[in-house]
Amino acid sequence: MKKGLKIVTIGGGSSYTPELVEGLIKRHDELPVSELWLVDIPEGEEKLNIVGTLAKRMVEKAGVPIEVHLTLDRREALKDADFVTTQFRVGLLEARAKDERIPLKYGVIGQETNGPGGLFKGLRTIPVILEIAKDIEELCPDAWLVNFTNPAGMVTEALLRYSNLKKVVGLCNVPIGMKMGVAKALDVDENRIDIQFAGLNHMVFGLDVFLDGVSVKDKVIEAMADPENAMTMKNISGESWEPDFIRGLGLIPCGYHRYYYKTQEMLEHELEASKTEGTRAEVVQQVEKELFELYKDPELAIKPPQLEKRGGAYYSDAACNLISSIFNDKHDIQPVNTMNNGAIASIPDDSAVEVNCVMTKNGPKPIAVGDLPVTVRGLVQQIKSFERIAAEAAVTGDYNTALVAMTINPLVPSDKIAKQILDEMLEAHKEHLPQFFRSVEA
Ligand code: G6P
Repeated sequence: MKKGLKIVTIGGGSSYTPELVEGLIKRHDELPVSELWLVDIPEGEEKLNIVGTLAKRMVEKAGVPIEVHLTLDRREALKDADFVTTQFRVGLLEARAKDERIPLKYGVIGQETNGPGGLFKGLRTIPVILEIAKDIEELCPDAWLVNFTNPAGMVTEALLRYSNLKKVVGLCNVPIGMKMGVAKALDVDENRIDIQFAGLNHMVFGLDVFLDGVSVKDKVIEAMADPENAMTMKNISGESWEPDFIRGLGLIPCGYHRYYYKTQEMLEHELEASKTEGTRAEVVQQVEKELFELYKDPELAIKPPQLEKRGGAYYSDAACNLISSIFNDKHDIQPVNTMNNGAIASIPDDSAVEVNCVMTKNGPKPIAVGDLPVTVRGLVQQIKSFERIAAEAAVTGDYNTALVAMTINPLVPSDKIAKQILDEMLEAHKEHLPQFFRSVEA
């Protein structure tokens, strides 16, 4: 007879793992996890051992009966899992640094999940997650797959479209970050705030905002229009919004919308940063070094506050709340990435969207919002087209499909530049993109 829940985390050597462990410890009463399996690949073994040993100390200090297992054997770990979380980075931060630097040479935004960088992260990640999905199907067919791996929208889209798994949810910390930002701007407790989220991952809007059930959208818009109030995440430069634009838009954009509505300023910022402190990946490489030094300290048995220098704040709350709501059939409302099924009228039914859902033991049930306002509908549809074509390119390894994905991305100015970036990035990431090189080599 099973003792409690078995959770398997793929990419367990990530510096974010203490977030997840803290979340599981906090909720142990309602979420009786008995086994946490942290899985990584041989290149990640050292990090896995360091962060895994910290995880064991955290659990021991908290006095909760969670057995932490560290392994490089994914298949052994997956056997009979109840929940599988994925948080891996194919090619590690070096690959992200290339995604951020190469487009800059062509005067195009270089970003982890948007534009050419997002496309390439998807091309590297999707074949790997589809292999994981096959293992899940075979070894723990009843498990829920909770994906945090970026680009989370494109990855969820690929899982829904190209795997046989039905129990899949994509998760991001942007919505919870927006909620915290609103609570701070209004100086109220975050539990009093409710945001009606709809859109796509890293392309989500707050359609309305409520404080104790009363709409405060106009107040929040005024707060966002204030240049002193950046309301952004640690990884996105908080360039201020044009106040009248925000008022005219009448919606709450997420931090990532700056790449689309302030492309020029964000590009200038990235070009400047690339010559000074480095791109975000390069900054994060430094932060990671410091974090892993801290993690090695045998006296450390909690999540260190330095982890807050990363963009993933509150990610453990989002993840553990989601897992707990599925396990406990809570029927509470959470914004996640799931099959649209008509919730957003302007997006195909069989596509992944990020939208408020009622969270049940049968998974997320999206809450319909109707059509998106015409001001943002086109951009959201365009990004959805990009994600779908990108996922197709990742699966087929077809060059022309990848070129179409690159060219239709709103951050890329022409087919010619798209091709130049594509060619340079394919070569730079060759090692992690076997699907594009198979036919040539054959
Ligand atoms: C935000 C995003 C995450 C992303 C993170 C990057 O929180 O929502 O999807 O992974 O930022 O943060 P980093 O510290 O790696 O730049």
